[in-house]
Amino acid sequence: MSKTVFITGATSGIGQACAYKFAENKFNVIISGRRKERLQQLSSKLKQSFGVDVHIMELDVRDNDQVKAAVSGLPKEWKNIDVLLNNAGLALGLNPFQEGNEDDWDTMIDTNIKGLLYVGKAVANLMISRGHGHIINIGSIAGKEVYPKGNVYSATKHAVDAITKGMRQDLLKEGIRVTQVAPGAVETEFSIVRFKGDDEKASRVYHDYRPLAPEDVAEVVYFSTTLPDHANINDVVIMPTDQANATNFNKKS
Ligand SMILES: NC(=O)c1ccc[n+]([C@@H]2O[C@H](COP(=O)([O-])OP(=O)(O)OC[C@H]3O[C@@H](n4cnc5c(N)ncnc54)[C@H](OP(=O)(O)O)[C@@H]3O)[C@@H](O)[C@H]2O)c1
Repeated sequence: MSKTVFITGATSGIGQACAYKFAENKFNVIISGRRKERLQQLSSKLKQSFGVDVHIMELDVRDNDQVKAAVSGLPKEWKNIDVLLNNAGLALGLNPFQEGNEDDWDTMIDTNIKGLLYVGKAVANLMISRGHGHIINIGSIAGKEVYPKGNVYSATKHAVDAITKGMRQDLLKEGIRVTQVAPGAVETEFSIVRFKGDDEKASRVYHDYRPLAPEDVAEVVYFSTTLPDHANINDVVIMPTDQANATNFNKKS
């Protein structure tokens, strides 16, 4: 029987690459995000290319009522979720703490922490009722270290690191595996979002060295689901070879 993966933030970047990777491996896929048109386009491509079933869930993870309704309203056959990929997230701004934009702080906290909690709880309870499941949270190198001007984004990813450890302990008796995949620099729409559409500023983030592609992260995420049931990858930090830590890059010039 086919397995099912539920991916938040599937409209772009890492989430989208993971949707392709799981579909290629014959998983049926629940794709979610706020941009409905992108979800529809992705759904057609996945069905066409891989012959899998796709369920579209237009969802803002910050809205707990929406999350509860979307998960409890899943058709019966879609409730058998084998893998949850908690990927939706963002950074907004890169300012010293004292100049931080409070609205940006709220959005990052609401999305990266609260959204992950809301979706995680709703889906974990479906998994508990089946005694089976795997939750994968996308953290970041920013959840392992703090870099200058990374303040609140870094705090949200440190929270993902802590929540992943907490989930693993609390779900221990439920047969649910919990993994964190924490990437370094990945070239996606992440920096375009962070710099609010300033493409030039965003492209400078990936200039002069080779960043990860979202497909690199998808390889690791998918691999973590291929281990036998008795084995779990707790935590993976995946970095570009050209990046040693949050601030140290092998730039060519
Ligand atoms: N790129 C990097 O260098 C990097 C490094 C480490 C960790 N990460 C983490 O990787 C994850 C994916 O980021 P990415 O690099 O793939 O960036 P991306 O290309 O901008 O994708 C972000 C995804 O998150 C979704 N999203 C954002 N806010 C949402 C909300 N309120 N509700 C539902 N979905 C929402 C977006 O979908 P919609 O806009 O359609 O809702 C989009 O699909 C994030 O958690 C990020 O923190 C990224």
